[in-house]
Amino acid sequence: MTDAAPKKLFIKTYGCQMNVYDSQRMAEALGAKGYVTTESVDEADMVLLNTCHIREKAAEKVYSDLGRLRPLKHARPDLKIGVAGCVAQAEGAEILKRMPLVDLVVGPQSYHRLPQMVEAAGKVIDTDFPEEDKFEHLPPRKALRGPTAFLTVQEGCDKFCAFCVVPYTRGAEVSRPVARLLAEARDLVSRGVREITFLGQNVNGYHGAGDGGAWSLGRLIREMARIEGLERIRYTTSHPNDMDDDLVAAHGDVPQLMPYLHLPVQSGSDRILKAMNRKHTAEQYLRLVERIRAARPDILLSSDFIVAFPGETDADFEATLALIRTVGFGAAFSFRYSARPGTPAAEKPELPAELADARLQALQALITTQQRATQEAMVGREVSVLYEKPGRLRGQMVGKSDHLHAVHVTDSAGRPGDLVRVRITASAPNSLAGERITI
Ligand code: SAH
Ligand code: SF4
Ligand code: F3S
Repeated sequence: MTDAAPKKLFIKTYGCQMNVYDSQRMAEALGAKGYVTTESVDEADMVLLNTCHIREKAAEKVYSDLGRLRPLKHARPDLKIGVAGCVAQAEGAEILKRMPLVDLVVGPQSYHRLPQMVEAAGKVIDTDFPEEDKFEHLPPRKALRGPTAFLTVQEGCDKFCAFCVVPYTRGAEVSRPVARLLAEARDLVSRGVREITFLGQNVNGYHGAGDGGAWSLGRLIREMARIEGLERIRYTTSHPNDMDDDLVAAHGDVPQLMPYLHLPVQSGSDRILKAMNRKHTAEQYLRLVERIRAARPDILLSSDFIVAFPGETDADFEATLALIRTVGFGAAFSFRYSARPGTPAAEKPELPAELADARLQALQALITTQQRATQEAMVGREVSVLYEKPGRLRGQMVGKSDHLHAVHVTDSAGRPGDLVRVRITASAPNSLAGERITI
């Protein structure tokens, strides 16, 4: 402990769930230097932007946010401003050039060095892919928010989809060792966590060192399911080519594994899938969906789609809509293709913006119809809900169902962390309402 008043840290997180996890770990690392987090940027001694480089808009947002910090930095030159995450990795020293108010730039693989970096005088930049494992150098987990937690089990990507920056910003695939993950999971559960989502850019490509060699994700899940008090397991994000038989089977025989799977397909056209370097066809994806549904019939599937990839014709786009109609998704994220510097697809001519927008709208309308129908079909059904926090109305709790639907439940005796049975009574655009079933 130091006698000095705690310094205040404001973190803003952009992008994926792994960034959410990383932000928590960065806050913990800086906690060792006396920083406590604040929700107010005005009272912060340090502002850290944990950035995303996946699409142009995401990356540009960081620069506009930095611009808005200028008056604050002007008024208080001692204010430290840091840029972390994938923009930091991709643009490095460029950031310091473009935005002189930035003091510190740190990439996703070197943020365990933040405590030393904040003490350095002058500008510092670290975008190494260090030899040492950052997780081994981070303090134990502490900033837990409620009964659910993320746990990064794998990072990086070797797939090199033609449009994607992740293999460059996060580096090669690395899996964390089984023993460390079991210890971290047990620690989370001992502190009240009841649901863990395993994270990785290619989480189902997990092959961490365990007893007798490399373990698959299926094996890791089966072992994790033995932890008493860990009621729910999820994982994200998967690549279709890494869904092995054992993992598919786990969806049928591990009760803790929740019936929701995010399985990005990107396109339903084989020509476009090939140009994207996805290394699977639409037919292979559909066969995989059949296998997964055979193992767990009530599973809810979600996906990612990119529209207007270079060269995408009307027929290609129709093939994507056809795939969506065949599968029937419970949810999906869809994006207009965004050319990213340094990726192979960025060399190719882009489609007109109006065409891209029209396709995105058509695809999103179809997905919305499917999402609504999936939710409507829950009305009258009994589900389990893990309460996360009180709702906006008095005596109301909000949590997630097994199928990852947000559910509002009238329950004045409910507490965060309660896992309860609920009968769904109504469906709103983005959530469900239900009544607690008391036995
Ligand atoms: N396998 C990854 C995908 C990360 S990116 C994971 O762990 O989540 C999330 C999604 O962003 C991708 O599935 C893709 O649909 C979309 N995306 C990636 N690069 C993009 C680009 N250049 N333009 C538009 N969307 C993109
Ligand atoms: Fe990007 Fe493809 Fe890797 Fe996903 S699998 S992170 S989309 S390169
Ligand atoms: Fe974005 Fe990096 Fe995640 S580019 S999506 S923050 S891995």
